[in-house]
Amino acid sequence: MGNRSGSYYSALKRITKVANSAFSSRKVYNSIAKSAAKAVHANGCRISFLVPQHEYLLTAGTYGLSDIYLKKGPLDARKSLPEILDGETVFVADATKDERVQHHQIAEAQRISSILGVPIIKQDEVVGEMRVYTHEPHWFSESDNSFLRSVVDICAVILERTESKQVLKQEYKKDRKHTLLTEAPQLPTASLRPASFAHPSESEFAKLLDFYRIEWLYEPRAFPLCWKEGAVAEMFTPDFYLPELDLYVELTTLKQSLITEKNRKVRQLKQLYPDVNIKLLAKDDFVKLLVKYGYGPLGEVKIGQVNKVLFSRSQIQRRVKILAKRISRDYAGQQIVMVGVLRGVICFMADIIQQISLPVTVDFMAISNYGGDGQVVKITKDLDSSITNRHVLMVEDIVDTGMTLNYLLTHLRAHNPQSLNICTLLDKRARRLVDIPLKYVGFEIPDRFVVGYGLDYKEEYRNLPFIGLLNPDVSQVHGDLNSMK
Ligand code: IMP
Repeated sequence: MGNRSGSYYSALKRITKVANSAFSSRKVYNSIAKSAAKAVHANGCRISFLVPQHEYLLTAGTYGLSDIYLKKGPLDARKSLPEILDGETVFVADATKDERVQHHQIAEAQRISSILGVPIIKQDEVVGEMRVYTHEPHWFSESDNSFLRSVVDICAVILERTESKQVLKQEYKKDRKHTLLTEAPQLPTASLRPASFAHPSESEFAKLLDFYRIEWLYEPRAFPLCWKEGAVAEMFTPDFYLPELDLYVELTTLKQSLITEKNRKVRQLKQLYPDVNIKLLAKDDFVKLLVKYGYGPLGEVKIGQVNKVLFSRSQIQRRVKILAKRISRDYAGQQIVMVGVLRGVICFMADIIQQISLPVTVDFMAISNYGGDGQVVKITKDLDSSITNRHVLMVEDIVDTGMTLNYLLTHLRAHNPQSLNICTLLDKRARRLVDIPLKYVGFEIPDRFVVGYGLDYKEEYRNLPFIGLLNPDVSQVHGDLNSMK
């Protein structure tokens, strides 16, 4: 005990000295984080402050953490352990299992085991928090707690320093600009960004995820698959982990022999780790996925004509009638707002609203297209009317990977509709990456590229009264991913 109080004392001495120095705020908070972590035998520490309106936490200083937190930008204040910001000291014994911790895989990737979070309180108001982390399970003592409470008091005092407040204000402004520009309630992407990828298709896939603002980590975890004499004999490291979707994605190579081997490993992984969600994405499939943006090796394929009708006009009309009947029955006595996603939805929307026997209003949204140029998805046309407290039915032409819907739903949810459901004419389920519950589905279709009845290929074919396949079917043309830059 005597030794411990000695280490608290020398840490406090260092902390007050740096707090009173002329160093930059970042340096001061980093130094405090280091002294605090060391004094309580923690491996890492993060000090963050709430920005005005208390929506975000900005990281002021860290120690012992990979730069994921700094790259992550502002953190959603209510997303992880919000009790701290309600003024409580929170202890998490095992971050890789605790339900209160959002991304267990990130915790694992960061080697975070136990967490102690202490609120930073200034004149009865919570202004931020300090968290200390350990690599191994660890119990913090009452003296650790009491020491950290003194440290956060010092942090609260330094926050008053003009420079400290100024830095936070600037960062907040930068972020605000970003949020307003993209008009999206999502946070910038966080990733363990590798210096280089093993293959160009991986880098392209990362760009696509970035576009849709889907968080990703590259090769964050190796799974032991087989053991010999107590030692791990075989490991499998999936290429990507998407924490928000709790999904691993493995991109396979073109060589059939390697695909078979990968399939075996994935099967084994599923058996050994049944809770792990993993999808295999063959490179060919990935090239096909880029076709709809007119991008990638197949983006230039010359198309002749539509040579196969998949659904005739009368088949579509019959199906639309059935869907409309269901919708009218399910929403009986209510008013709905039908929100269409431009432009593929034009024909379907026009037909279905005429068959619905309820009062409906119609609104449209549009988003930017992926171009592989480092841009992130933007809403290019937002709703014209408010959907707060209203029953919203999103209407889509086709759901493919689900990334478009995933983005739009996040945007719509932020407006607090009373209910939010999805109606899609076509469901290309085989290619789904983001699983989203679809309440009304016209037709489930195979992994083929379709056009007509509003759907296009490079803006053509929307006016066909039926849904057909192109000749050649772009999605069946063999892609050469090596031509990807
Ligand atoms: P997701 O984000 O991958 O689900 O893609 C959905 C969007 O991709 C749709 O709104 C369509 O604009 C487009 N799309 C997907 N598959 C096709 C297709 O086979 N033909 C035409 N457009 C498609």
